[in-house]
Amino acid sequence: MNILAIESSCDETSAAVLVNGQIASNVIATQLIHAQYGGVVPELASRAHQQHILPVVTKALADAKVTKNDLDAIAFTKGPGLLGALLVGTSFAKSMALGLGLPLIEINHMQAHVLAHFIEDPRPAFPFLCLTVSGGHTQIVRVDSPLEMEVIGQTRDDAVGEAFDKSAKLLGLPYPGGPLVDKYAQEGNPHAYPFPLSEMPGLDFSFSGIKTSILYFLQKQVQKDPQFIPNNLADICASIQYTLIEILVNKLKRAAKETGIRQIAIAGGVSANSGLRHRLQEMASKQRWEVFIPGFEYCTDNAAMIAMAAHYKFIAGDFADQTASPMPRMHL
Ligand code: KG4
Ligand code: ZN
Repeated sequence: MNILAIESSCDETSAAVLVNGQIASNVIATQLIHAQYGGVVPELASRAHQQHILPVVTKALADAKVTKNDLDAIAFTKGPGLLGALLVGTSFAKSMALGLGLPLIEINHMQAHVLAHFIEDPRPAFPFLCLTVSGGHTQIVRVDSPLEMEVIGQTRDDAVGEAFDKSAKLLGLPYPGGPLVDKYAQEGNPHAYPFPLSEMPGLDFSFSGIKTSILYFLQKQVQKDPQFIPNNLADICASIQYTLIEILVNKLKRAAKETGIRQIAIAGGVSANSGLRHRLQEMASKQRWEVFIPGFEYCTDNAAMIAMAAHYKFIAGDFADQTASPMPRMHL
């Protein structure tokens, strides 16, 4: 069984080929154009997807040594994401499926982030909890089977990736700032500047308050010393990262206690954060959790995870047709 999968929900154009349930190729073209604007510009993302999609798909097929005539299905990200960006992947997949007479499989991007855990061993057993943390989402998901999952907690305002990126912007770091905060934090003291941990009822999160307290803190310090940020960058990044991770881990602890589930996974772009990965390993021994952390290339947006999700939908016989269209606000 050969499946071609296409991801185009935000600023990564990606294509992957799955051969008999195994990833045979995963090609990702990152759009660098957005850095100069300090965030993703939807119209530019859409245009860059149009430029990248054909070479990316061609390379994914070549890397996997599969021709388009060997394909059994074509999968694409239906949502959530930017409408113009999703439209490129959706239209490309639909035309290719129509031309080749192949079935189409539509994929929820957030479900695919969770199913990235089934690309490589060790794979979690069911049920497990997955903390899905990206630039647009922060969710705790209870996963009962590959296609049965339920959001049991989520952010009420900003996503944690957004909190990383906006904090980085306040520090004058370029977009996307999350990986840079991670890099500088490795040299800093996480307890140098204590920021308040937001308290939300139940398993929900909030990250807008912390963003505001970082802003006020920096304004006050820079007034006293204009060189405060460059002179203390590592300590500031470490303190911000520590606070964001504590908010995530406190809710995970609560979710594990409430559900009695000790198999804990992380997914999405922020799961590439070295501090979060390290903290989770620590929790594995302290809380006797079995922890699952995806390989770096499967944390941020990629089509391999879309292909993995397509594998389960193919087996379940869940196909779409030529009426398929993007759904920017798609829920799990
Ligand atoms: O899953 P993803 O690639 O795209 C979305 O679906 O949003 O996640 C992107 C987010 C960005 O906010 C980026 O700054 C963040 O993941 N990110 C990180 C790291 N790598 C990516 N945040 C903190 N530390 C990192 N190492
Ligand atoms: Zn994502």
